[in-house]
Amino acid sequence: MAEMMDRFPGIDDLERRAGRRMPRAAWEYLASGTGDEAAMHRNIDRLREVQLNPQLCKGLLNPDTTTTIFGQTYAAPIGIAPVGLTGLIWPGADPALAAAAREAQIPHTLSTVANSAPETIGPIVGDYGWYQLYPPRDGDMRADMLERVAAAGYRTLVVTADVPAPSRRERQRKAHVRVPPAIGPRLVFDAATHPVWTAALLRHGMPGFETLEKYVDGSSLKKLAGFVGASLGGTLSWDYLREVRETWDGNLVVKGILDPTDARECINVGADAVWVSNHGGRQLEASPASIDCLAPIIDELAGAVPVFFDSGIRSGADVARAIAIGADFVFCGRAFMFSLGALGERGPAHAFEILHDGLVNVMHQTGCSTLLELRDRLVT
Ligand SMILES: Cc1cc2nc3c(=O)[nH]c(=O)nc-3n(C[C@H](O)[C@H](O)[C@H](O)COP(=O)(O)O)c2cc1C
Repeated sequence: MAEMMDRFPGIDDLERRAGRRMPRAAWEYLASGTGDEAAMHRNIDRLREVQLNPQLCKGLLNPDTTTTIFGQTYAAPIGIAPVGLTGLIWPGADPALAAAAREAQIPHTLSTVANSAPETIGPIVGDYGWYQLYPPRDGDMRADMLERVAAAGYRTLVVTADVPAPSRRERQRKAHVRVPPAIGPRLVFDAATHPVWTAALLRHGMPGFETLEKYVDGSSLKKLAGFVGASLGGTLSWDYLREVRETWDGNLVVKGILDPTDARECINVGADAVWVSNHGGRQLEASPASIDCLAPIIDELAGAVPVFFDSGIRSGADVARAIAIGADFVFCGRAFMFSLGALGERGPAHAFEILHDGLVNVMHQTGCSTLLELRDRLVT
């Protein structure tokens, strides 16, 4: 493991290697934003401007990163954000992420449009699974999905609010990201020039949308892809969320909130937490950096519910920055996916180690034994 840390000490090292090992379409799907990608870059740039002022001469510290949310204790306030089409990024991604999360004792959030079903991933992830819902238009389908998710052992539901319509994703278009992939010279060339990815594909088979297969007449990938576009999204309203609240007994989190008034409304409809995110800059290029929306939302909610954060996290220092501003938990999308591209199934454990080790180090450097103390180190 020490040797791995010497070779890949940062998430950016994993990103570079993933870029070489993944086929172009898969890479463009993962690494791109939408439009001019200003929001994606702003997330990272604004986060890096957050400064922490160290307090020194505190003797030997033993920083504690354990965090309790919804009555469960996690090893660190670091979770795996939901990512769709995981099997295109790295075949076999979902079970690998779930197993790594359980081992590391952190949450893994399974997306509605990940390639594995909750019934497959629930037993692998154990108590560390969260489930992300893209709101189905059909009420019966929603009720059935929520029953399946609960039966698979999931207790925390994350409803994603920030996809009112598909975004344009120009880079993806140019890279011909298609489900199913168009079989032709481009694909053959891509597969031949990325042999490790191709071997993983042959091992795991062509990824489908397992969660959704039972709702589609004939589960050909093409039909499923059309179904995803036609059946999920575009329906979310506060009333819809109220209905979800009435049918879901577990914890309810609303993801993709940037506006304090929306955050307040989440509480009014009965959410148990608010997840500040701009989807990693994949929906609205004119969006503010997610980190710039965190403090106003924390002020508005004044501790009524926990506040989670994502978009732009690439290091343990970034985790510390978001925690210092007041986030209760931080999630990463691309960081964990880069790790799969770079190292295959061994990747997520290593990505967690990079992030955790970095967070502990920042706590040492700033004189903080607890995560809460980081808030006093924030330069305002
Ligand atoms: C390739 C990719 C697919 C994603 N798919 C989903 C999804 O299915 N559901 C969802 O709620 N968010 C999805 N997201 C957004 C992530 O959950 C998260 O908000 C984002 O990745 C955070 O930014 P970061 O990548 O800079 O960490 C996706 C992000 C990426 C990069």
